[in-house]
Amino acid sequence: MKALTAVGYGPLADLTFSDVDKPVPGPGQVLVRTEAVALNPLDVKLVLGSVREVFPVTHPFVVGIDVSGTVEAVGPDTIGYAPGDAVTAMNLGVAGAVAEYTLAQTGPLLTHRPEGVDARSAAALPAAGLTALSLLHHCVPVAGRDVLISGATGGVGSFAVQLFAAAGARVLATGRPDDTETVLGWGAHHVIDYTGGKTAQLARELVPGGVDVVLALAEDGAALPGIAAAAIDEGLVLTCTEQPTALERGVTVERVDLTARDGDLSGLAARVSLGELRVPVTGVYPFSEARTAYEDLVGKHTVGKLVVEF
Ligand SMILES: NC(=O)c1ccc[n+]([C@@H]2O[C@H](COP(=O)([O-])OP(=O)(O)OC[C@H]3O[C@@H](n4cnc5c(N)ncnc54)[C@H](OP(=O)(O)O)[C@@H]3O)[C@@H](O)[C@H]2O)c1
Repeated sequence: MKALTAVGYGPLADLTFSDVDKPVPGPGQVLVRTEAVALNPLDVKLVLGSVREVFPVTHPFVVGIDVSGTVEAVGPDTIGYAPGDAVTAMNLGVAGAVAEYTLAQTGPLLTHRPEGVDARSAAALPAAGLTALSLLHHCVPVAGRDVLISGATGGVGSFAVQLFAAAGARVLATGRPDDTETVLGWGAHHVIDYTGGKTAQLARELVPGGVDVVLALAEDGAALPGIAAAAIDEGLVLTCTEQPTALERGVTVERVDLTARDGDLSGLAARVSLGELRVPVTGVYPFSEARTAYEDLVGKHTVGKLVVEF
């Protein structure tokens, strides 16, 4: 079968389409005929090798961790899935997704695709949606609290804006001026233009006392104190990217990683099918242009999710 592969750690330009063996589902696994794959920054980090100490990969390595498709076969002792089922999964550490066939493991990172949810939307949901949900779980209750989401136009941010607003938070979200209507449409109460590098200052103009919570989805470690200036004394800053160091004014800073509980992914998918949660897929590429899709993920301004379709 055809797959987009990396033969060693290196730049995205070195990704190549290769013929690799069709995977065989093991115990508790399903073989998925791929219909769509959503791109994530982690895919790129795995290719570059920048996270190799935490996530080492074996080469040749098939890229991609978010997939939707149709179950082709099931492995031994696989319960709850049968050939023909439409599914969506995050399959990090199980198999690469940007391939004609891939594997997924039964459990909280695999679910059926509800009626009315197309393959693109289903593929775009797992990693970004579950990370946004993990952030929400980390700071509930949020009703009535002011939450600044920096990086709101990205995959995680687009879901976080919606989930936090639906949970009753007053959401201040970053975006470029051209993205304002889109981000307001996701439920943000204010959109802050981050391009001038004054996000915290502009947030303070809107909420002079400071926001209760900052989701720092776009900041590296060096930029965390700057964005944390938007928070109230003894407020909370959450990051998904850095092991943070202590901040001033009693502001707590914590790293939150994707944690999926049973029912989280199926719950998100159900909310999509009910029209309660939008999946902003803003770029769709054919399989033959999958490498370009990755290059665009890092080289161009992205809003929401980019998807490769088979
Ligand atoms: N720890 C975990 O479990 C976990 C899970 C998921 C994601 N993550 C990490 O979380 C981060 C965000 O993920 P993602 O999937 O949302 O990434 P993404 O889709 O690439 O989105 C990043 C967004 O942030 C915007 N942005 C860049 N610089 C900004 C700034 N200074 N202020 C405000 N917004 C800015 C980007 O806009 P431009 O296009 O203009 O740059 C883009 O819209 C990544 O580093 C990812 O690796 C961690």
